[in-house]
Amino acid sequence: MDMRRLGSWGPLVSSVGLGAMSIGGTYGPTTEAEVMRLLAHAVALGVNHIDTSDIYGMGQSEELIGRFLRESRARVLLATKAAIRYVPGTGERRIDNSAAHLKSALEKSLKRLGRDNVELFYLNRREIDRPIEEVVETMAQLKREGKIGAIGLSEVSPETLRRANRVHRIAAVQSEYSLWTRGVEDEMLATCRDLGVTFVAFSPLGRGMLTGSPLDPQSFGRADFRRANPRFQEPEFSRNRDAVARFVELARKLGRPPATLAIAWVLSADRHILAIPGTRSAEHLEENVAGSRVHLTRDERAEIAAVFPEGFPWGERYGGAQWLGVERPA
Ligand SMILES: NC(=O)c1ccc[n+]([C@@H]2O[C@H](COP(=O)([O-])OP(=O)(O)OC[C@H]3O[C@@H](n4cnc5c(N)ncnc54)[C@H](OP(=O)(O)O)[C@@H]3O)[C@@H](O)[C@H]2O)c1
Repeated sequence: MDMRRLGSWGPLVSSVGLGAMSIGGTYGPTTEAEVMRLLAHAVALGVNHIDTSDIYGMGQSEELIGRFLRESRARVLLATKAAIRYVPGTGERRIDNSAAHLKSALEKSLKRLGRDNVELFYLNRREIDRPIEEVVETMAQLKREGKIGAIGLSEVSPETLRRANRVHRIAAVQSEYSLWTRGVEDEMLATCRDLGVTFVAFSPLGRGMLTGSPLDPQSFGRADFRRANPRFQEPEFSRNRDAVARFVELARKLGRPPATLAIAWVLSADRHILAIPGTRSAEHLEENVAGSRVHLTRDERAEIAAVFPEGFPWGERYGGAQWLGVERPA
């Protein structure tokens, strides 16, 4: 396993971590037995970074990870997040960066995880009217209290990162990065590198699209995130699927599973990048982890990206309420 540092000073973590949103049912159901098998397999393969959140399965992801860690005594770097809350009754999504909410959300996460602290605590979404300096000060206080090891930000702009980093060292920024979502290449990846911040690439498999496994939007369950995502609606979905078929063909010619190649493509962009693909399957996990062992040169990366036709991808990466709290570059 290729190991990389969290921040320029932090612990070594596996370049491929495990995204645990799927444990909460975002892309289909799973069972407790499957989750335990998946987590044990991840640790056996050398994955030592697990990424979760208080909202994945409304706490279910953290609870199952907590149970696994208690039973296995595995040592991993745990990352969790807070800032999104749901209004009781209506289920409306709100962003809350208040000190009261972040502290109480973290306490509840720690309880579910069965830990006194987590190594990395992210602000999941920024509350746009609240100064980021105030929010980072709240998180710095949690660090002084020993409840978190490092501070992370999710879906922020480069400008917000620079402001935040002036208040307290930021260890990681998490945002979407893959062959079909490349916006962070404009400025964010370089800003992270300059500041010594690790960039954690989420949804590196395009939420399943870049894996070559056939997807049928008609069969997505009611809770599946992709039901409301523009890239999975017609006619965009069919156009995206046809474009991805070229990538799948290239991967086969190169003798690699498409998921392996997609992860390698992300990780080969730079050394300060980690990938956190999500899966419910131990078999898929193996293909994803294999991405950490494939090094692609700059030219090879460019050749892979060049298989996608002009205009790819069709549809924005979020739709409607999915944009709530996501900062686009100023
Ligand atoms: N900060 C944020 O706002 C944010 C947002 C999104 C995600 N994240 C984090 O990033 C993690 C990963 O992102 P993601 O789960 O959205 O998307 P992803 O990793 O791009 O894709 C996950 C999907 O790909 C499928 N898959 C995974 N490996 C596969 C393989 N080898 N072959 C075939 N299918 C495969 C999974 O299905 P199977 O279960 O069937 O394998 C699942 O449907 C999340 O778990 C979460 O921790 C953070």
